[in-house]
Amino acid sequence: MSYLCEMKKKLETIKEKDEVIILAIETSCDETSAAVVKNGRIVLSNKIASQIELHKHYGGVVPEIASRKHVEAINPIIDEAMNEAGIGFDQLDGIGVTYGPGLVGALLVGLSTAKALAYALSLPLVGVDHIEGHISANYISHPDLEPPFLCLVVSGGHTHLLWVKDYGDYEVMGMTRDDAAGEAFDKVARVLGLAYPGGPSIDLIAKKGDAQAIQFPRAYMDEEHFDFSFSGLKTAVINYLHNLKQRNESYRIEDVAASFQQAVVDVLVSKTIKAALKIGLSRIAIAGGVAANSTLRQCMDSQAQRHGYEIYYPQLVYCTDNAAMIGCAAYYNLMRGKIHDLSLNVEPSFSTIVTNYPQY
Ligand code: KG4
Ligand code: ZN
Repeated sequence: MSYLCEMKKKLETIKEKDEVIILAIETSCDETSAAVVKNGRIVLSNKIASQIELHKHYGGVVPEIASRKHVEAINPIIDEAMNEAGIGFDQLDGIGVTYGPGLVGALLVGLSTAKALAYALSLPLVGVDHIEGHISANYISHPDLEPPFLCLVVSGGHTHLLWVKDYGDYEVMGMTRDDAAGEAFDKVARVLGLAYPGGPSIDLIAKKGDAQAIQFPRAYMDEEHFDFSFSGLKTAVINYLHNLKQRNESYRIEDVAASFQQAVVDVLVSKTIKAALKIGLSRIAIAGGVAANSTLRQCMDSQAQRHGYEIYYPQLVYCTDNAAMIGCAAYYNLMRGKIHDLSLNVEPSFSTIVTNYPQY
């Protein structure tokens, strides 16, 4: 019997179990992470080996260095996750792994490891879309959260406004037409001379700045659609600094950071609230690295309160990349029979969940 046929048969028994335990792996960018997750929402362990200190020297992620570090870190981090969870490999019911989007070499390390484990242990392989993982982080932090809800996914590589209709059923209401929100934070931080990753650096320094000091552009703010654009804002910040430097005038980094951050947040909050109004959903989840931003959280909370909406954020550790969120998404895929063959390849460029984009 082929591997996939055997796994489909095995799945019938797994679905009957009271406890379904998944080992999940995430290596799409610069974090090597492994987690053990029970029944989708109970995190038995979540170990993360961050490469930030290494990439800081270069002001951003160097893909080849990331791949090599993943190779070094993957086996020890899996051992750590299994030890902390206190279970043996024979107690697992499935292997979940991010297979895209992300850096191709980085993804390959995680996927190859997951395939080897799935084959050797005779367990179903569940390939997980990274964006679906970020959304699922909210299920871990909010055990009562169920679809439908609206989800704003804002990370270093993605900015999507998604209508989560059911587990695995998504409709794209809007997305960025150029830079992702986190990417804009990282690039602006770099021109301000702040450390990588730029989001947390700007978040911190902006607390001492005046968010109204400079009026940076807010793209598409008053347009009907729900798409975003951040590259014009990034250019506006660069031009602003360039002009001041040419005239030998000084500026307060704190004010530039706070004003830039406010421009990003205003657009994200305004579009999200408008989208919720449009489809009549009162529950809004935020996900991805930028969901850790303190100003975004404050502004989203105050707008939501005005409209009587409920806002969900993952705990900080589940905002940025981690394997627990992948384990959660893998559980819901597994239970719906969405498992993969060992021929599964990485999907670096495309998200497989954001194909349904009807243009609002
Ligand atoms: O989700 P994530 O770990 O990786 C991707 O899937 O891209 O997100 C990383 C991004 C980076 O761009 C980082 O600067 C941003 O999230 N980020 C933040 C904050 N913490 C992380 N952006 C704004 N404020 C923060 N506090
Ligand atoms: Zn991510």
